[in-house]
Amino acid sequence: MDLFQHGPDDLRSLRAEAPVHRDEGTGLWLVSRYRDVRAILADPRRFHPDNALTAVTPIAPPVLRSLARAGFSLPPTLANNGTATHAGLRRLVAAFLTPARVAGMRPRIAELARDRLAGLTGPVADLHPALARDLPAVVLLEVLGIRDVDVAALKAWSTASLELFWGNPSPARQRALAEPAAAFHRWLTGRIRAARGDDLFGALRDVPVREAAGLCYFLLIAGQETTTQLLCAMFHAVLRQGDLWSRLGEPGVPERVVEEVLRRDPPVNTWRRVAAEPVTISGVAVPAGAHLLLMLAGTGSDPEVFAEPERLCPARANSRQHLAFGFGRHFCLGAGLARLEAAVVLRETFERFPVLRLADDAEPPMLGLLSFRAPLSVRVRLDGRGPGEPVPDARGAGDVPGGGAARRGVARAGR
Ligand code: HEM
Repeated sequence: MDLFQHGPDDLRSLRAEAPVHRDEGTGLWLVSRYRDVRAILADPRRFHPDNALTAVTPIAPPVLRSLARAGFSLPPTLANNGTATHAGLRRLVAAFLTPARVAGMRPRIAELARDRLAGLTGPVADLHPALARDLPAVVLLEVLGIRDVDVAALKAWSTASLELFWGNPSPARQRALAEPAAAFHRWLTGRIRAARGDDLFGALRDVPVREAAGLCYFLLIAGQETTTQLLCAMFHAVLRQGDLWSRLGEPGVPERVVEEVLRRDPPVNTWRRVAAEPVTISGVAVPAGAHLLLMLAGTGSDPEVFAEPERLCPARANSRQHLAFGFGRHFCLGAGLARLEAAVVLRETFERFPVLRLADDAEPPMLGLLSFRAPLSVRVRLDGRGPGEPVPDARGAGDVPGGGAARRGVARAGR
C-alpha cells in the first residue's frame, strides 16, 4: 500500500484484515480501527507524541546541516511534547482560541468569504485559489493578533514545510524545500525577538526563543493549511452527493455537513505516536519504541461505529465522535475555529451560488502526504450547468423535477 496515496478501499481492507500492520517501507505500524486509535490517543502514558513532527522521509545529512546552520529546530512544544511543559504552552495558545474569541470571528469570516465570492466570474472557477487558499491564514493571523505578514509568503513557507516533513522528497527536492522552511523559521525568530505587543509573539515573551519559534512554526502551519484542505475536501464531498448542496440553507445543515466531511474525509488523515512499552493492540504484539501511524481517516469510516460510513448523513447522531481532531491531551486547539470557518464558508458559498456544481467528473489532483490528504483544486460551474445543459432552476438542482442531480441519477442526500 502506498502510504502517500491510499484510499478508502485500502483502509477498509486494513481494518478488516490487518488492523495492526507493519509497513515494511517505513517501519511504521498502521493502526486503523476506531477503538484502537481512540484508546491509544487516550493513553499518553503508554503512547508518546514525540514523533508527531519527525520527517517521515529522513532528511539527508547535508540538508540537516544547512537547517542547523539556519538555527532551525523543532523542540517539544505542543503536538510533539509529552513532557511537563506541554500543559503551560497549551494554556498560553488556548487563550487566543477561547470559544468566545472564536465565535467573535464569525462576521469577519463571512466578510472574507463574501469578498472572495464576489470576485468570481464564471462560468468555471477554481475555489481552491479563489476562496480556500488564503482565507484560513488571514483568519488565523487575526485571531492570534499577528499583523504585517505577507500571506503569500506564509503559504509558500508552509506548503514547503508540509512536503519536507510529511512528503517523500528526493535529496535534491529536500534541499529546495529546506530553504523556505529555514526562511520561515528565521522570520519567526526575528518577530519573536522583536515582539512587544499583545499578539501571540508577545504572549511567548517568557518562553525560550527556540521553543517559541518551534511552537509558532507548527501553529502557523497547522492552524491554516489544514483548514484550506478541509474547505477543498468539503466542496468536493458535498457537490458529489446528490442534492446535498440544495439543503445548505436549512438551519444547522452546514455545521452537520462539516462534521460529516471531517468524519469521512479528514484532511489530517493520519497522525503518529510512539509506543513507550511493549503493548498488544487488537491481538498484535507491538514492541516498545514502535512508531505507530494512526489511520484517522480509517477510523471515521469504521462500520463498527458509523453505520453506512461512505454516506455523508447530516442527521447522523454520532458524527462528532470522529477522531479528525485527535482525542485527549493533545486534542486540536483549533477545532472550534476550523469548524466555524468551514460552516460559514459553506453557507456563504451556497447563498451566493445556490446551483453550484463540479465542472469535472474526474477525480481532482490530490495532495498526497503522509498525514495530509485533500483535493488540490475545486473546479466548479458557477451557473450550475453541466456540459450541454440549460441553466438549472435557482431553487436548486435537486428540487427541480428532472434537474441536475436527478438527471445524473445520483442518490438522494443523507437522512
Ligand atoms: C480542519 C482543520 C484541522 C484539523 C483536521 C486538525 C487536526 C489536528 C490533529 C489530528 C491534531 C493532533 C491531535 C492529537 O494528537 O490528539 C491537532 C493538533 C493541534 N492542532 Fe489542529 N487541526 C485543524 C485545524 C487547526 C487550527 C485552525 C489550529 C489553530 C488555530 C490548530 C492547532 C492545533 C494545535 C495547536 C495542536 C496541538 C495540540 C496539542 O498538542 O496540545 N489546528 N490538530
